[in-house]
This record gives sequence, C-alpha cells and structure tokens, in this order.
Amino acid sequence: MKSVAQRPAPATRHVVSINDLSDQDIQSVFDTAQGYLDTLGDRQLPYRLAKSSRVASGRILATLFYEPSTRTRLSFESAMLRLGGEVITSADPATSSAAKGESLADSVRVISSYADAIVIRHPRDGAARLAAEYSPIPVINGGDGSHEHPTQTLCDVFTLKRKNKNLKKLNVAISGDLRGSRTIHSFVYALARLGASIVPMPAPGMELPAHVDRRLREEFNCSFRPAKGAIGALYMTPDEPHQPALFADPDFEIDVKPSASRSEQKIAAVYVTRFQKERWADKDQAYPKIDAQFLKDAKYSQASVLHPLPRVGELDVSLDTDTRAVYFEQAAYGVPVRMALIALLLGLPDGPAMETYSGGFAPAERPLYDHPFTEGLSCSNRNCIVHEPMEAPYVRNKFHVVRGEDGCRLRCLYCEHDSEGFVVASRKNKWYADDPSLLLTEADHTLKDLVAFRDGASAQEAGYRARQQAAPRRRSKPAS
Ligand code: NCD
Repeated sequence: MKSVAQRPAPATRHVVSINDLSDQDIQSVFDTAQGYLDTLGDRQLPYRLAKSSRVASGRILATLFYEPSTRTRLSFESAMLRLGGEVITSADPATSSAAKGESLADSVRVISSYADAIVIRHPRDGAARLAAEYSPIPVINGGDGSHEHPTQTLCDVFTLKRKNKNLKKLNVAISGDLRGSRTIHSFVYALARLGASIVPMPAPGMELPAHVDRRLREEFNCSFRPAKGAIGALYMTPDEPHQPALFADPDFEIDVKPSASRSEQKIAAVYVTRFQKERWADKDQAYPKIDAQFLKDAKYSQASVLHPLPRVGELDVSLDTDTRAVYFEQAAYGVPVRMALIALLLGLPDGPAMETYSGGFAPAERPLYDHPFTEGLSCSNRNCIVHEPMEAPYVRNKFHVVRGEDGCRLRCLYCEHDSEGFVVASRKNKWYADDPSLLLTEADHTLKDLVAFRDGASAQEAGYRARQQAAPRRRSKPAS
C-alpha cells in the first residue's frame, strides 16, 4: 500500500449547521468530493462511485437515527465504507435504549467510545447541538426536526456547481414547505452566503419561519423585495460577498448582468420540497405541484430541478426524463460529498486540510445568556430539544443575545428560534423592567445578574416587582 503522510489528529469539530463550515471548508469539501469522483468514479455514470479507497481503514462511523431515513443514512454508510472504514448503526429508536428512556446526552457519551464520528438524525430541533455538547468526537447533523440539514445542502450546492451553476447573483426558487423543511433552512443560508438570490414559492401558510427570514435580512444582509415583475418576491444578496475568500476562487466567478436587473433574469434552479406532514397538525393542506406545465414558463427554460427526496406527489414523475431534472444525481453525490466531509472531520490523509478552520461562517460576536438556574424564559419553540422531558437533567436554556432591526431578541443556542417581547429582571435588586434591550446595554458581568421572563406576570410570580422609574428630583424651596 502506498504510504501517506499522517496528519495530526484534528481538534474535534462538529457540523450541526451549514454555518459551522466556513466558505473555505465548503470549497475544500467540494474539491475533495470531485477528487473522489475523478479517481473512484464509474466510467459509465459520471455521478456515481464504483471503487473504494482504504484511507479510513480502522476508523468507525456511528449512525444514530431517531427518525426514518434512506438517503442520508445509507449514503453516509456507503461513504464510510468507500473510504475503507467501518459502520455501526442504530436506525430504529424502538430497538435502541431510547425506547427504555435513555437520554440523547447519555447515548452520545456511550457511542463516542465505540466510534470516531457520529451522524445523528432526531425529530427535535436542536438535538444535534445538544449531542455535540456531550460528544468528544465529531457530531454531524443528519437532520434535526425542522432546524437544519447541512450535509444535504452540501449535496445540493455541489450538484448546482457540477451543472455549472455558480451561484453568485443567480435566482434560485424554493418551493413547497419552507417552514417545516430543514433542508430549506440550511440551503437558504448557503445561497445567501454564495451570493444567490432566493425566490420563495411557499405553499399557503408555509413561508420561511420568522427567525430564518430575519437572519437572511440581518445577518446575511439580504434585502427583501416584495413581489413585482416576472420573478416575484425575492431575497437579494448584497453585491459584496460575505467571505471574500470563496470568491477569490475563479471557479466561483461568473459573468452576470449587474444586480439591478437580477430580478428580470431567469430562474437558475427550482428546489422542490415535500409537505413535511410529520411536523404539521393539519395534514390536509393545499400544496403546489411542480410538473412539465409549470416549467413551461420561459423563465424556467434553463432551470435545474432539485429535490432532496423523498417526493410524495409534489414533483411529477414525468419530469424524470427532462434534462433539467437533477435530483437523482443530487442523491448520488451524497456519497462523494459525505466522504469528503468525513475525511475533513477525521483528518484523513486524502481529505481537506483542517488548518484553515476558522470556526465556521464568521458569526457576529454575541453575548451568551446562559443561566444555571431554572427560573426565567425557556425557548419559544415547543419542538426544541430543551423541552424534551428525557433531556431535562442534561440541558438548560441558553440563548445568544441578538441586536435585531426591531430591538433585542434571544436566539436559542440549540434550535435558533427567537424569543422576543420579554421582560428583564435583576436577581440582585429584585426588580423587573419591560425592556429587553437591557440585555444588550448591561456589561457582561451584570448580564449574569439578569434573568428574562416571558412577561411581567411570570416575573411577579417568581418574586420580582416592577422597577419604579426614578422620581424627578424635587426642587428645594427657596428660603423665604
Ligand atoms: C430530507 C429530510 O430528511 O429532511 N430528506 C433527505 O435527507 N434527503 C427531506 C425530506 O424528508 O423531505
């Protein structure tokens, strides 16, 4: 066997959100994935692998799935096997210790002694972040509730790149259940980072969640343009890239008309999603169908059609033979792309170098509101992992304090939903005030003294009283 230089073991890092990967990381994963396609690919079918390597020999990947999966689990397992590693799997919560009531925090600590990396899928938003907190080995999010699905996004963007759709300034339409689809949430952050414009085409009542919409506008500097013109409503990304490193790569440059006319351009890709019926109480909702008739409109003449799959009627099978359909290729790229990600996280000799790791997409510095006591605000998202009774002893409410367009908000560290409109109390002085921005104005050391409550009534119940406004000083009477 050819001897290969050993890399020092990389520091443990997790991929819970697409934003845990810097633009440079994403580019390196793509380059490595392309390398696997070039060296291990099937000569007949350019999107599939036909050979394996031995670089991960002796390494083990655990797949820990609490929700159904075909593509994500099997492509991760295939990826590890193609790298020459081994796989252990827990694919059915009914046959794992979860059925006996074991917490995720305990399961992850146990499994981390059996494997070198864990892929986790869970119905609760934020579960992967909690798993990462307890894991000494890399945790990869294979989909957590309706939060994120970052590795699907890697496959999606890789597919678009393979179709020569370098995304800067292109219009990408996203259709269907934009609220419940975790693939959409990771995808829109990536689109914004790559400079694409996002054209939302939600099913009725299934718009992007408020916290995702806000992050696009506030954090990724997208400007929202309400519906007008051929394309309709869209989030336009700024002309300046977010991380210039990525755009220094000539491969990511593309000649396009100036951004002012972007809205008049065509749609470069349509990303279709299914109705996430497992995440909605009302199962009988109207839902758009993408078919040949829909795609007849001239603006879709060059549009690649993507879908994370499975499809359940929203994407007509007659499109399968349409040259614009790329969804089966997209699923096939799950193997080389996930191989490259595993290689990055495990520091495999043929994988991308980790030295450039900068902590992911440059986040704004935000204070962390993290109280080791149980009183006060808990995450507003009822499906967040912090509300899972089994995890109660292992998780507490943690929030980033965010300065938004409309004041101060608390963003849950796990599911990234926002809480707003709360009151802030001082534990030392026992008052509360209807002023969330106190969390922003107080210095870090005093932040520890403050506690947020949903409303004044909850603060009063916990023994706090409304803060009195300082009374205006009385003028002393002039001596007569
Ligand atoms: C997606 C998922 O699980 O979020 N599937 C996948 O991983 N390819 C999409 C879906 O289930 O609708």
